[in-house]
Amino acid sequence: MRTSLFSRRTIRQGAVFAAGSAKIKLMLACCLLLTLIAFSGRTPSFIGWNQYAAPLPRSSLPRRGYSLLINTWKRNDLLKQSISHYASCPGLDSVHIVWSEPDPPSESLIKFLNHAIRLNSKDAREIELKFDINKEDSLNNRFKEIKDLKSDVVFSIDDDIIFPCTTVELAFSVWQSAPDTMVGFVPRVHWLDKSTGNQDTYVYSGWWSVWWTGTYSMILSKASFFHKKYLSMYTYEMPSSIREYVTNNRNCEDIAMSFLVANATGAPPIWVKGNIFEIGSTGISSLGGHNERRTHCVNWFAGEYGRMPLVSTSVKAVDSRFCWFW
Ligand SMILES: *[C@@H]1O[C@H](CO)[C@@H](O)[C@H](O)[C@H]1NC(C)=O
Repeated sequence: MRTSLFSRRTIRQGAVFAAGSAKIKLMLACCLLLTLIAFSGRTPSFIGWNQYAAPLPRSSLPRRGYSLLINTWKRNDLLKQSISHYASCPGLDSVHIVWSEPDPPSESLIKFLNHAIRLNSKDAREIELKFDINKEDSLNNRFKEIKDLKSDVVFSIDDDIIFPCTTVELAFSVWQSAPDTMVGFVPRVHWLDKSTGNQDTYVYSGWWSVWWTGTYSMILSKASFFHKKYLSMYTYEMPSSIREYVTNNRNCEDIAMSFLVANATGAPPIWVKGNIFEIGSTGISSLGGHNERRTHCVNWFAGEYGRMPLVSTSVKAVDSRFCWFW
């Protein structure tokens, strides 16, 4: 028993190593190419992220856009920075700020944001700004149903990460091709926990595992597009035990959303390649014990569903204008 377990693990590591060395080769090739470009003196414009790409032709954008659903907590400077930026992205219909602080937003903050939106939205679009003010402070607040939403889709985002508009547009167009799917930039993965010998336990793994294996099964709601119907499903149809778990443990609302969408679609989410700019520094993911708590959530939610709804995939959507090799 012990030897068979050991040999299986060795084989797995061999496979991972092979995949890893292919990645390293590719990275070396990229480095070489970048060096050549740099020496030829024609530094391309992608180094400044605002000029990352010329926008797609206007006609290719649909008339209906997306709503920004932004979660914030006592970081008005980050909120101002993010909203000023996203107001400049074409396709933005409205901004919904999930507000769970004890004090309501100040007059000066509202004035600043309205002004920033008017200033930065390039054409004469009316971008609506709304605060969703919550009495209790629960992580479930970020998935409350939004009444009278103009668009069908929300772009759910944390206040401390910024994506260039071209990246946001790419994800939006991927979502339009798969409107029931969660589409976003931060993939995570669950694995069957082989160490316990129990077929029904799982481990949650972070970015390095996704990078190494190229596999993922969740897209975190800190940066993702999903249909607005999932907001009401989260609040009214998902088992209330899961919402209670999220409130009590102050964690895993994003995993709960991944479970909900996977259970509804029976399909994996879609990871879109994008440049991330972190403007804040300390999130809970940098605290110790993070993956253990997340692993607990995954197992607990799978228990509530009576099965594991998450589906793994290795598909990644990229902007083909920037694929240099093929
Ligand atoms: C999962 O999806 C099925 C089929 O759509 C549904 O009947 C069920 O209630 C969902 N499970 C949970 C826990 O939401």
